[in-house]
Amino acid sequence: MGDVDDHEDMTESMREVMSLDGDVDKLATYYARWADEYDDDVASHGYGLPEMMVQTLQRAIGEVRPDSPAYTRSPNVLDAGCGTGLVGAALHAAGWSTIDGVDLSHEMADNAAVRGIYRSVRGGVDLTVPPTDDLRHSAPIVTVGGVFTVGHVPPEALEQMAELVEPGGILVVSTRRAYHEETDFHAARERLESSGRLHQLVHLPDAPYTMDSTGDYWAWQTMGSGLT
Ligand SMILES: C[S@@+](CC[C@H](N)C(=O)[O-])C[C@H]1O[C@@H](n2cnc3c(N)ncnc32)[C@H](O)[C@@H]1O
Repeated sequence: MGDVDDHEDMTESMREVMSLDGDVDKLATYYARWADEYDDDVASHGYGLPEMMVQTLQRAIGEVRPDSPAYTRSPNVLDAGCGTGLVGAALHAAGWSTIDGVDLSHEMADNAAVRGIYRSVRGGVDLTVPPTDDLRHSAPIVTVGGVFTVGHVPPEALEQMAELVEPGGILVVSTRRAYHEETDFHAARERLESSGRLHQLVHLPDAPYTMDSTGDYWAWQTMGSGLT
């Protein structure tokens, strides 16, 4: 792991969760234990991610054609990997009013629901496998904040995230610095871009993420019916 992730300010929980190698059972168990402390732990570590996700989305909306479903009406947002709802809270504060959340962890999702800002929240959703019919192409805007991080989902899951978005909609993703340095995230994204499934709208490199690490922020438009 790179220097940024060896920073002494990182909490023990952050360190441990990044060592779980993307094992969904271990991640679910870990987040079940961490759920009630998560907000205090990340908030005390200068969590810039939620605000950056909103800024990335706002820039992306400025880039899409007016016939995009993310542009032409008050769009609903699916917050994938919503955790306890910190990204949802930032979206809500910025004016988005119809937000659904899904997450692997029931306990994290339950805490998101308590905020009272999500229209619906569902735990037990594994974002590394093809989405179920009710989630596939289900939202014009999908946010995935803090999920493409060390020990969580593989870069190939970007394809599953894209499947959540309505054709012509917007996918917003963060990548922790150590993650996009150490994985083949760029290869995964370039495959989707060169095949025409994702059209890159925004890339903000080395932006605020946590106190101990920067991150990159990405937004794409999903292309056409059936993502062709
Ligand atoms: C670092 S937290 C980020 C949560 C929230 N988006 C935020 O920014 O505070 C990572 C979240 O990803 C979820 N997660 C990890 N692996 C997942 C998977 N395979 N499918 C769905 N969610 C997953 C965890 O349960 C956790 O809530």
